[in-house]
Amino acid sequence: MVPCKRVAILGSGTGSNARAICDFGRHHRDAYEVALMISTSLDAGICQVAREYAVPLALLNKGNDTRVELSLLLARHEIDTLVLAGYMRLLPTAIIEQMQGRVLNIHPALLPDFGGKGMYGIHVHEAVIAANSLKTGATVHLVTPAYDEGAILAQAEAAVPQGATARDLQQIVKELEHRLYPATLSAFLRSE
Ligand code: GRF
Repeated sequence: MVPCKRVAILGSGTGSNARAICDFGRHHRDAYEVALMISTSLDAGICQVAREYAVPLALLNKGNDTRVELSLLLARHEIDTLVLAGYMRLLPTAIIEQMQGRVLNIHPALLPDFGGKGMYGIHVHEAVIAANSLKTGATVHLVTPAYDEGAILAQAEAAVPQGATARDLQQIVKELEHRLYPATLSAFLRSE
C-alpha cells in the first residue's frame, strides 16, 4: 500500500478550515493524514481543533526566526504538503522551496479578483460588496512568494444575495471553503 501523504496545517484563525480538513481526513483515511498543526498563537481556534483530533501541535515562537522554526518542524515531521488555513503572514520563500511548491492556500474570493496585499478577512467581503459583484466564492491555489498569485487549483462560486452584508458573505464563503478545501487537497495529493 502506498503510504498516506503527511499534511501539516498552518493557521491562526478560528480553525474552521482546519476542522473541515481533519474531518475529511478522518472519513477518508486513504486521502491524507493530518500529521501536524502549527499555530502562531495558543488562542487560535486551530489549537482546539488539534486537541480534538489528537494531532501534534506546534507553536511558532514570535521571538524566533519563522523560516528556521518552520523548516525544522516540516522536516522533523516528514511533511509532504503544507496547507495554509488563515495564516496571515507571507510564507518565507525558503519554505516554499523546501516543500518544492507543495504549499496550498485558500482565499475567500474568486481570484484573481479581490486578492493581494490588504485583502484578508472581512476586508475581502467588504470589497466584494463595494464593487457590487454579483458573485463571490473561494479559491484554492498554490503558494508563491507573492500574495495570492500562485496557480489556481479549484474555485467554488456563490451568488451575492441582494442586500447581503460583508458578514453574510463571510459565512456563505466559509461554507463553500469547508467543502472545497479538503476535496481539492485530496485531489492534489492524488495527482502527484
Ligand atoms: C478563511 O476565510 C480563508 O479563506 C482565509 O483565512 C480564513 C481562515 O478561516 N485564508 P478559518 O480559521 O479556517 O475559520
